[in-house]
Amino acid sequence: MDKIWAAFAVIATMHAATKIVSGDFGKTREGAATRIYTLTNKSGVEVKITSFGGRVVSLKVPDKTGAMGDVVLGFDSLEGYLNENPYFGALIGRYGNRIGHAQFKLDGVLYKVPKNDGDNSLHGGTRGFDKVVWTPRELPDGGLELTYLSKDGEEGYPGNCKVTVVYHLTDANELKIEYAASTDKDTVVNLTNHSYFNLAGDGDVLGHMLTLNADHFTPVDSGLIPTGVLKPVAGTPFDFRKSTAIGARIEENDEQLKLGKGYDHNWVLNKKGFELSLAARVEEPSKGRVMEVWTTQPGIQFYTGNFLDGTIKGKGGKVYARRSALCLETQHFPDSPNKPKFPTTELKPGAEFRSTTVYKFVK
Ligand code: GLA
Repeated sequence: MDKIWAAFAVIATMHAATKIVSGDFGKTREGAATRIYTLTNKSGVEVKITSFGGRVVSLKVPDKTGAMGDVVLGFDSLEGYLNENPYFGALIGRYGNRIGHAQFKLDGVLYKVPKNDGDNSLHGGTRGFDKVVWTPRELPDGGLELTYLSKDGEEGYPGNCKVTVVYHLTDANELKIEYAASTDKDTVVNLTNHSYFNLAGDGDVLGHMLTLNADHFTPVDSGLIPTGVLKPVAGTPFDFRKSTAIGARIEENDEQLKLGKGYDHNWVLNKKGFELSLAARVEEPSKGRVMEVWTTQPGIQFYTGNFLDGTIKGKGGKVYARRSALCLETQHFPDSPNKPKFPTTELKPGAEFRSTTVYKFVK
């Protein structure tokens, strides 16, 4: 009898597990086929992810009344993602964020990477991981695995670098992203996801309440390259150690806010090592959605969509205005390849880079 109940229990758990279904998402301009995957958990929370750039296309979570709403910016079809857009939902690499003067030295060799952000290189160059088609695989547990081989010399980076990203949607309303990378030559790696969140699903994010578990941030120069200093947040508009409205100080007469045209900076997370720890918490008072960000990474780029300017029309024809979304990009610090004192982003043959980030919806 016990055995029968145990078997039922197993079947019941299997039914409760996240479902994954896939569909065609169209072809790139080069004719490569792309797919879109829908992961749904037992409460009906749903995430759609495409193999094009590994992008999170939509993420539907409940508000305080239980109504589901999409909390990320993006497009209804592949076409939108193929056109110019600021990395909506994308996986970012080989080096997320900026590399100063678009060059770095590794083992005494100077490597030049594309200048696509003034004099600097941003988010992996001209054709970063956000613009390639990843190889998808549906996992038996309802997860989605995406792999990509970035060839030796691609976008100027040394080494054949194999990257695997696994997305899971758990029954605890967590979107979990696990990154792994290996190489056959010394290289640098910084991987993240560039989802733009608006927990109200509309309007700007200035009323969202943010907590960041960080005593320091990395101030930048006019090209948004860290100066190398770890500056205490105390007494500055960068202090989010207590929950504060994003808009409360964003227009203050502060040099760093002026350089970023708002928040566009890396915070140094308070942590011992590379353990999974709470990095950020965002609460949107009107709809009552709360998102926590957990990560094993040492830093987080908090960006308030300062460069969105209303020229992009997204899902359902919605105009994406300035500061209508926020990004919380877990990462190593920007320009680490040129900042020996920052935690290293070097990856050697035989070693494996691993990191985990969880976006958890707690209400
Ligand atoms: C990151 C950068 C920003 C901006 C966006 C994309 O968040 O730090 O400066 O480039 O990506 O527009």
